[in-house]
Amino acid sequence: MLERMLELVDDGTPPDGPDGPVAVLERRLAELLGKQTALFFPSGTMAQQVALRVHADRRGRRAFAAHPHSHLDVWEEQGYNTVHGLWFHRTGDQHELMTTRDLVAAIEEPLAAVVWELPQRDLGGLLPEWSVLCEQVALVRDSGAAAHLDGARLWEAQTYYRRPMSEIAALFDSVYVSLYKSLQGVRGAVLATDADTARVARVWRQRLGGGIADAWPLALAALTGLDALETRMPAYREHAIAIAAAVNADGAARAYPDPPYTPMFHIHLPASKRAVEQAGEALLAEHGVQLWGRVRSGPDPARCSFEVTVGDNAMEFTPDEVVDLVHELLARALRCGG
Ligand SMILES: Cc1ncc(COP(=O)(O)O)c(C=O)c1O
Repeated sequence: MLERMLELVDDGTPPDGPDGPVAVLERRLAELLGKQTALFFPSGTMAQQVALRVHADRRGRRAFAAHPHSHLDVWEEQGYNTVHGLWFHRTGDQHELMTTRDLVAAIEEPLAAVVWELPQRDLGGLLPEWSVLCEQVALVRDSGAAAHLDGARLWEAQTYYRRPMSEIAALFDSVYVSLYKSLQGVRGAVLATDADTARVARVWRQRLGGGIADAWPLALAALTGLDALETRMPAYREHAIAIAAAVNADGAARAYPDPPYTPMFHIHLPASKRAVEQAGEALLAEHGVQLWGRVRSGPDPARCSFEVTVGDNAMEFTPDEVVDLVHELLARALRCGG
């Protein structure tokens, strides 16, 4: 990234100008995703709310449907409602992907949009089969609703579908991708869509304070990540598959799904969340290894789980080393009282 910064300084390109990193990134992602326009946003939270707002205003409809675990409902303080006057139609079982039958029921009410999250993070990165996804999107669009993709981890999803990004994005009226998750950038998001939707989205971005002029370091970080992406992602997925297989062959914990669809999966443990958190802290203090971002509780208080997303850090561990760490974690958790 530093090298790229120096290149900019050397050739005198104004970093916030038409050939600066934000503009270059927007053009590159529009092309990669096969959309007319790609618009930088400071966050995915803002980008998605704006996309839904534009779809809703255009259709004169206020409700959108999404999975119960949708980031829009769980993590955004219902901004879709308090800021944009939209309504969330909770769709499907919280432990399963949205089914076509769920969507048929949802579109009985005229919807502005339906949101698909690919992969579904809180389900360990599950993905609908391609034919099912195509069928669902066609059904929803026939009802007059827009199809929106929460593609925070679209790069991961692509390793399962093995289709060009543009073919996946073509199913949707609007696509949000994150600039910091798989790309290992700093922050930021891009909304890729048709020129008309982007024109109105740009106005909303300004209204919400997202039209920042000095976003170029974020774009530069994302461009650096994009360069490495193609070679990295399939290797991450292969490694995730190998780790999940080793964990399940060992049997002390359970990896799900097995095989993982993407570089992401869950490890379920026969111990309580509190005990596992304590054991994780001890493991971190002793070995300097952090296994998760957060431990997830479940309906059974004697069990919990955590998410594994294979990236550069996880590539440094062999599947057997991960199994050993899980063993040590469980032994410590059971000593902490299970
Ligand atoms: C699936 C999903 N959608 C949207 C977002 C929002 O992105 P941001 O953190 O850029 O607001 C996140 C962030 O974690 C996410 O995981």
